[in-house]
Amino acid sequence: MNIRFLDACRGQNSYNTPIWLMRQAGRYMAAYRKLREKHGLLEMVKTPELACEVTLQPIDAFGMDAAIIFSDILPILEGMGLKLTFLQGEGPHIENPIRTSADIDALRTPPAEESLWFTLDAIKLARKELDTRGIPLIGFSGAPFTLASYAIEGGGSREYRLTKQMMYGEPHAWHLLMEKLSAVIGNYMCAQVRAGAQALQLFDSWAGALSPSDYATYVMPYVRKVIAHAKTTDVPVIYFSTGTSGYLPLLAELGADVVSVDWRIDLDVAWRALGTRSAIQGNLDPMALLAPWPELEKCALRLLEQASRVHANRAGFIFNLGHGILQQTPEDNVKRLVDLVATSAEAVPRR
Ligand code: CP3
Repeated sequence: MNIRFLDACRGQNSYNTPIWLMRQAGRYMAAYRKLREKHGLLEMVKTPELACEVTLQPIDAFGMDAAIIFSDILPILEGMGLKLTFLQGEGPHIENPIRTSADIDALRTPPAEESLWFTLDAIKLARKELDTRGIPLIGFSGAPFTLASYAIEGGGSREYRLTKQMMYGEPHAWHLLMEKLSAVIGNYMCAQVRAGAQALQLFDSWAGALSPSDYATYVMPYVRKVIAHAKTTDVPVIYFSTGTSGYLPLLAELGADVVSVDWRIDLDVAWRALGTRSAIQGNLDPMALLAPWPELEKCALRLLEQASRVHANRAGFIFNLGHGILQQTPEDNVKRLVDLVATSAEAVPRR
């Protein structure tokens, strides 16, 4: 069993730094694009055999230290009553976004076994396959704020105008929405562990749209609640966000085992701000994977060196990107990066 990733989540020493990449299964891989020619994204997510196959693709091609179950953060909203589609080249679209308190009252809160059975089944299938390879499986969910932003805006957003209008203008409605989302998310994360997930990641991709005090007032209590719920299982929980380096001390208070940071702050500076007893994940700029190999290698070695400044053996460091891998990424760069980190115990001098 490859225990590098799970050891690092617990802040324990591991000889080699573990690596996995957010969105590691996806369109940058020819094998994924080939399957995608025949199946829609949601169709792949909802067919456990296909979701399992896609989950394994990057593991078999590149040898990351952990797999993440293939799904998306948005199908959870379908079970609550929202109509989700992925438009060609335009990303997610919700036909009936949440705009009023009546919309929030009407949201259902079904158990995951009912509304997300396909991902739970995919986890069971993937675990069987991964056990033979000795690789752990990560389950995940979108976090309350990030999911609320899609549910309210009806898709991606730059300014989160409608979301913030509800947050400031109708705090009662906002808190009810966050309560409902938190309950459904916590239930889903625990169900994934029962199905076989060995770690959990909460994706709060757009939390950085908020000021520190708004995050503390309108979002943080719900993230804490979801993490506490997820931690009733015995698996480690990773909290991921971007653009939040202005409030790392708040993130240190969430109760997560691992905090995932983006590239807008140096890893050692972030780790010290979070407190060096907790584990950290990140934080290569995904764009670095589009660079010529010598430049990418330099960026990766710099990151390993920054981690070594905090812990000589980098205990509690998980090498990852600061956000999802880009579609234009050459597969060869992914292979070389994974290989570099796998042999990195020698690559960076110990202090
Ligand atoms: O990491 C993995 O390999 C697991 C799969 C995974 C997907 N989405 C598959 C996917 C994960 C973990 C996600 C999370 C997700 N989805 C997030 C959080 C992470 C982040 O990047 O911020 C968000 C915000 C979404 C919502 C989403 N899904 C958007 C905005 C888009 C369109 C933009 C895009 O990248 O195309 C998606 C589509 C999506 N989800 C794709 C994949 C592989 C590409 C779709 C395709 O095959 O056509």
